[in-house]
Amino acid sequence: MITLFIDNKEVKTKAGNTILWAALDNNLYIPNLCAIRDSEKQNSSCRLCFVEIKGNSSPVPACSTQVHQNMQVLLNTPEVARIRATGFHLIMSNHRLNCNNCIKNKSCELQEISKKTGLKLTNRKLHHIAIDIPVDDSHPNIYFDRSKCVLCGKCIAACNQSGSGILDFAYRGIKTMITTFKSKPLVESGCMSCMACVSVCPVGALGRKKHR
Ligand code: SF4
Ligand code: SF4
Ligand code: FES
Repeated sequence: MITLFIDNKEVKTKAGNTILWAALDNNLYIPNLCAIRDSEKQNSSCRLCFVEIKGNSSPVPACSTQVHQNMQVLLNTPEVARIRATGFHLIMSNHRLNCNNCIKNKSCELQEISKKTGLKLTNRKLHHIAIDIPVDDSHPNIYFDRSKCVLCGKCIAACNQSGSGILDFAYRGIKTMITTFKSKPLVESGCMSCMACVSVCPVGALGRKKHR
């Protein structure tokens, strides 16, 4: 076991754990969207989980930084708040926000992050670029709205692990999106309807149709 201090609270966790899970398991909140527990490969793409470690020159992503003995972690320094806000505004800059009509309304991680950090979903600091991709409504059970996708990559990992591995990132930069092999509609993609992707999607991008 390792002992560390997170915002001066003594925390014990197993060696090899990352700061993110050590904190969350001890009721210390760090916003996160792309972290996958116990996965060796972390995207670290959402940029929301940055923390400072005393003695380090710059903040680090909590989801991919392992704990060490007597480490002192700070969750809410001005630099951490600045990186987190920039990451959040970037995500919201191409997010189609219409919570009242969204399948994840009231169980959405973006809403949770907003509630816990005070970062407003509606406070767009950056120019808004609408993602104009039609909803993939082809599957009998799964609803796939890419305009809500935060590119966390969790569906790809879940599909690789439990499904048929038909999801992946495509394109680059602002055009990056989740697609199926050859960009086929979900129903023609070889999807085996295991619903693993739906169960891990933190926002209203992938959902069960009966929840609509
Ligand atoms: S994904 Fe979340 S923040 Fe976006 S519209 Fe749906 S409920 Fe609102
Ligand atoms: S569809 Fe959902 S799980 Fe997949 S990358 Fe987008 S937000 Fe993440
Ligand atoms: S959870 Fe760490 S960068 Fe996304």
